[in-house]
Amino acid sequence: MMRKIVIANWKMNFDLHQTASFLRNFLKLSFNKKIIYNKEIIIAPSLPFLHISNQIIKGTSIKISAQNIFFMDKGPYTGEVSASMLKSMGIEYVIIGHSERRINFFENDEILLKKIKIAIKNKLKIIFCLGETYNERNENKHFISIKNQLSKTIFNFSLYDVQYFYIAYEPIWAIGTGISANSDHIQMMHQFIRSLFSNKYGESFSKKIPIIYGGSINLNNAKSIFSIPNVNGGLIGNSSLKIEQFLKIVQS
Ligand code: PGA
Repeated sequence: MMRKIVIANWKMNFDLHQTASFLRNFLKLSFNKKIIYNKEIIIAPSLPFLHISNQIIKGTSIKISAQNIFFMDKGPYTGEVSASMLKSMGIEYVIIGHSERRINFFENDEILLKKIKIAIKNKLKIIFCLGETYNERNENKHFISIKNQLSKTIFNFSLYDVQYFYIAYEPIWAIGTGISANSDHIQMMHQFIRSLFSNKYGESFSKKIPIIYGGSINLNNAKSIFSIPNVNGGLIGNSSLKIEQFLKIVQS
């Protein structure tokens, strides 16, 4: 069985002091309670604090992820950060395709494709987010929407390139709303996504690709969401910002 993956997406929260003290406390508390044993835990702090975060978790099994990269390697792109810069600090993971970036920063499939390309070139592991909108779900277009999002991005890459991907299914209507998708919906969509990977890359690979759920995971629903077939873990926003809550979610 694949071990469970818990990813904390801190988004634009926490200053330097808060970032460092959360990580130090998390290490102390989680090791005391042995709760991170046999789990893959990835934390995505804000960009300026990636380096210090990576230093704090050094020597542990916890990993640090960036929340974004730019699609060029270097040059006159004021304010942007490249995959190779992340690599130079020892960062191995990056989130690409989060709906907040698609919506607020107009990242379309074409841009995501370029970001994936540069991330693969720099051997970053990609946490790729996808999900349908509220309208798409209501109009019964969620399957086609997910299929399109994959066809226009990841499915342009070879099996060799996609082997280090994590897929995060995040229905856009559930993110940050406090209302997660129900278990039937999650199960159906995860199964559907896995079947698309099976058609494209073969059954044996499709069983190995981690597909995690994101969208209002909290203390009350984490355990039941993590036990849904085909759900390999969770991408957690709001509920990852309070250490006690996050620890309990990891525990569940
Ligand atoms: P949420 O965010 O847990 O606050 O809904 C999840 C995400 O955006 O990845």
